[in-house]
Amino acid sequence: MLKLNYKNTDSMIIGEENGLNLSEEFENYKDRISDIIKSLNQRKDKYGQWLQWMNLGYNEETVWYVKEFASMVEGRFNNILVLGIGGSALGGIAVTEALLKPYWNLLTPEQRGGLPRIFFLDNIDPDTINGLLEILDLKKTLVNVITKSGSTAETMSQFMILKDLMQKELGDDYRKNIVATTDKKMGVLRQLADQEGYKTFFVPDDVGGRFSVFSAVGLLPFALLGLDIDQLMNGIKDMDLALKNTDINQNIAAQGALIQYLMDTKKGKNLSVMMPYSSRLKYVSDWYVQLWAESLAKEFNNNGEKVNIGPTPIKALGATDQHSQIQLYNEGPNNKIITFIRVENFDTTLEIPRIFEYTGIGYLGGKTINDLMNAEADSTRVALADYSRPTMTISIEKIDEYNLAQLLYMLEVQTAIAGELYNIDTFNQPGVEQAKNYTYALMGRAGYEDSANSLKEKMARV
Ligand code: PA5
Repeated sequence: MLKLNYKNTDSMIIGEENGLNLSEEFENYKDRISDIIKSLNQRKDKYGQWLQWMNLGYNEETVWYVKEFASMVEGRFNNILVLGIGGSALGGIAVTEALLKPYWNLLTPEQRGGLPRIFFLDNIDPDTINGLLEILDLKKTLVNVITKSGSTAETMSQFMILKDLMQKELGDDYRKNIVATTDKKMGVLRQLADQEGYKTFFVPDDVGGRFSVFSAVGLLPFALLGLDIDQLMNGIKDMDLALKNTDINQNIAAQGALIQYLMDTKKGKNLSVMMPYSSRLKYVSDWYVQLWAESLAKEFNNNGEKVNIGPTPIKALGATDQHSQIQLYNEGPNNKIITFIRVENFDTTLEIPRIFEYTGIGYLGGKTINDLMNAEADSTRVALADYSRPTMTISIEKIDEYNLAQLLYMLEVQTAIAGELYNIDTFNQPGVEQAKNYTYALMGRAGYEDSANSLKEKMARV
């Protein structure tokens, strides 16, 4: 199981001013935390609570369907192209970057075991889109367009470009190269998919984008890429069981949530850094940043009071960012809490040869890069504690389907608990919707005319 070491947030280690009296705080919050965990588990099946993501680990039907589709199209495609943005892309990117062999798309088909390459278009930069189109053979490409709302301008504009090109190149058969993942009933994409006859998967009701990685949003590409979906599900289920424990002393998601909440509200540390010591986990930080930012930053609390709260998540990568951000973290404002992710066992070992023995780098010879990576994780943690900076370390046994699913699910539950502590709606995103609506207005979508006029007036002024 995943482990959390939070000792370096304790006042006994980093001092009264910056640290928390953890035994006292755990005692003070034990009932509140227990109520939150019970309440999340009781509400998770109720419609409108946006907690269906807590049931995704048990969704055998979706697992069956994605596996069946993957086996039906086996060998037909050289490329999977995912169109999506935000919650419709970040989980997929995080998981595939972590679990596929590094440099997957550069491997030969034999080295990939006949499995396709994977591309995510999660932006609308014309140069990168055109660049990608130049290298993809559309006949051998399966496009998976993913949008829960079915109307997000970035995703749908990409889809319109791809659909047009594919139809021109493949004729009516283009439909066989498209799969849409969207709402069961609502939205433009759902309507189009039904009209045009695309294969579809759905984003379940009451699952927000940033909590959707273990729905068909992620599972379909994962199945197409040969990842072990059953082990992903086992990881979620085991973690779910562990996190049902209502005792704060036994529940790592509750511990992480409470510590971050108290560091923000009591100690003024409202910047939350996620720093894995593993390149394969680099994009877990991107996923976490969206999860934490969109879920916890809110204008109003649940009592309707204007609060404008929200910790700011920051992504960093060990050891790379020791040579970029650590100066700030050690000596800059003491306003951050850093979460390290430490991988206990890498898949491979890389020994540093015993050469240059009588030089200043001779000490490295005979050690492994693995030792060096974890020595750096440990020494940075200690150095930060010397500067009275709070850090926590999540230890993951190894990077595989089972352990990665545990990590992501634990961070989702941690976010949900933190949202309850902040007393906000974790699952809405009015700020994102506002920006989406302005885009629709500016691009002339019907029904947004008033918004367009007021927006144009405002733009002329600023
Ligand atoms: O988490 C969220 O709800 C958002 O980040 C959405 O995932 C993002 O805006 C994309 O929305 P959609 O899936 O509707 O295209």
